Amino acid sequence: MTDILKVDQVTKTYGKRNEKQYQALKGINFSVAAGEFVAIMGASGSGKTTLLNILSTLDTPTTGHVFINHEDISTLNTKQMADFRSKQIGFIFQDFNLLENLTNRENIALPLTLQGQSARKIKPLIDKIAKRLEISEILDKYPAQLSGGQKQRVAAARALVHQPAILLADEPTGALDSKSARELLDTMEDLNQNDGVTTLMVTHDPFSASFANRIMFIKDGKIGEQVMKDGKTRPEFYHELIERLGTEE
Ligand SMILES: Nc1ncnc2c1ncn2[C@@H]1O[C@H](COP(=O)(O)OP(=O)(O)O)[C@@H](O)[C@H]1O
Ligand SMILES: [Mg+2]
Repeated sequence: MTDILKVDQVTKTYGKRNEKQYQALKGINFSVAAGEFVAIMGASGSGKTTLLNILSTLDTPTTGHVFINHEDISTLNTKQMADFRSKQIGFIFQDFNLLENLTNRENIALPLTLQGQSARKIKPLIDKIAKRLEISEILDKYPAQLSGGQKQRVAAARALVHQPAILLADEPTGALDSKSARELLDTMEDLNQNDGVTTLMVTHDPFSASFANRIMFIKDGKIGEQVMKDGKTRPEFYHELIERLGTEE
């Protein structure tokens, strides 16, 4: 299978050389194949956001390499990086990160606007992804007029409108009520299974993680073992995760 993402010996140390330093990532290695839905699960402070920010090119590793679609993103300059991000990466954040002074339609258009695409080309793409995420009715409203669940659907539409190589999600249900959280996770699962959206989600939450097909555990900046869903149902997988957490030291 083709690897969409390959992470090779990535470390991240915060703090300048003459300041207090903290190593948040201690040699991370893993790959994600095309069509996978992978979760990385770990407690608060384990390094999940640090890792995802590096994979999404928002931050750079101290050492190591990240390949997306076989391109080593650590070799790109700032402009190439921005260009690469706007074409290949979709990102959903815990706190939505929508621009409040733009309509939802304009928010979703952003990755395409940044690529310099024309309004005439953009409109049908937005209409299509909006229909897929059931937000057609709210496109001309502003983010402030939406519920949390609707905001995250708009953010998901923005993350997917340019058909990125991979969808990266950092605690995407962290700010949602349980009903909206479940709806978003069902949608992410559906996009993965039926539209082939390769997805990597980080979360501290076993319920969210149970929607993935493979889960890697991160602790103190290191990835330990992984578990596969295989033939298990989602609830069975969830119970396996809960039991696992219960037996940790
Ligand atoms: N900008 C930063 N400067 C210094 N330390 C940081 C910075 N960002 C995160 N950290 C530290 O790195 C560790 C991992 O943080 P983070 O990646 O946000 O974890 P998680 O998302 O799993 O909660 C934590 O101990 C955190 O305090
Ligand atoms: Mg985090």
